[in-house]
Amino acid sequence: MILDATKKENLEESLSKAASMILSGGIVGVPTETVYGLAANALNPDAVRKIFEAKGRPFIDPLIAHVYDFSKLEEIAIANDSARKLYQAFCPGAITFVLPKKECIPDIVSAGKPTVAVRIPSHPVMREFMKKVGVPLSAPSANPFGYVSPTTAEHVESQLGDRIDAVIDGGICDCGVESTIVMLTDEDRPMLLRPGPVAREQIEKVLGKKLIDPKDKNPAHPTAPGMLKSHYAPKAKLHLFENESELKDIPEGSAVIYFARPKSPKKDEFWLSEKSDMNEAARNLFALIRSLDKTYSTIFCQKLENVGIGEAVNDRLGRAKTKL
Ligand code: TXA
Ligand code: MG
Repeated sequence: MILDATKKENLEESLSKAASMILSGGIVGVPTETVYGLAANALNPDAVRKIFEAKGRPFIDPLIAHVYDFSKLEEIAIANDSARKLYQAFCPGAITFVLPKKECIPDIVSAGKPTVAVRIPSHPVMREFMKKVGVPLSAPSANPFGYVSPTTAEHVESQLGDRIDAVIDGGICDCGVESTIVMLTDEDRPMLLRPGPVAREQIEKVLGKKLIDPKDKNPAHPTAPGMLKSHYAPKAKLHLFENESELKDIPEGSAVIYFARPKSPKKDEFWLSEKSDMNEAARNLFALIRSLDKTYSTIFCQKLENVGIGEAVNDRLGRAKTKL
């Protein structure tokens, strides 16, 4: 069931319905500025379990708790100066902090870890909703485990509609890729667990420190399973390229996705951005792959320059691509 929250006149009724679903232990798709999430009351382990079941997600993969502001964050996590600085610089927004958890967070949310991931989203409908429900909301991306993340309410409804209570439609997600995740448990060694819309360089500037890459810590046991090599994958074979010259011998009938609009686009050619803008490219990425996945069995996609949000786009493409 889609609950419309894109029009002012429907907002109150849609959010009230969704809030009573959450407070009675249900699971509801929610819009955020990054991607759509699948939310449950983070303090209710039985409700959280339903998220894992609906997504087919392994219980070893912990969830992000979404809260309204820093004081709500402090009810569930032990904050520190790094978290405060990043909150002031980027929140509400597309950044998640991993911090030591407080006791109220059930083990199922943190996958038994002593930490919890917390995020303060900026999407106005989500903010209104968080105010209304009052409890922290555990919400992974609202896609079947391993598939491309949803950026519209229809994406959620088409894949999970029969397994969830409802999805709140708050329009197309603005960022299009999942939040940046930083681990702040050791303030001397902040770690970038997942690149996202808030870029590495911006975080390093605020903290006055370089971010550590988790790869050089423990390659065998990823700290965030979302970093698993194969993730975000469409059914089609996805190959990546940097320059057009690499596309000489591609199979007939393949789809080609360029970063910018080609001068004279041919059949089966698509692009991520009209204006050669990396934010626009990120916003369109998952929706385009999702729609091409319905009709093409092979897709070639151009990588972005590896700076700013380009690092997040290349990271997701790297995990979605076909392993040779
Ligand atoms: O933008 C986003 O972050 C979206 C929206 C819905 O907020 N959510 C999202 O959730 O992408 P999910 O579950 O798809 O990805 C969360 C990632 C997972 O890779 C998980 O392993 C990691 O966060 N994570 C969660 N709790 C953690 C913890 N305590 N320590 C380390 N990693 C954690
Ligand atoms: Mg996900």
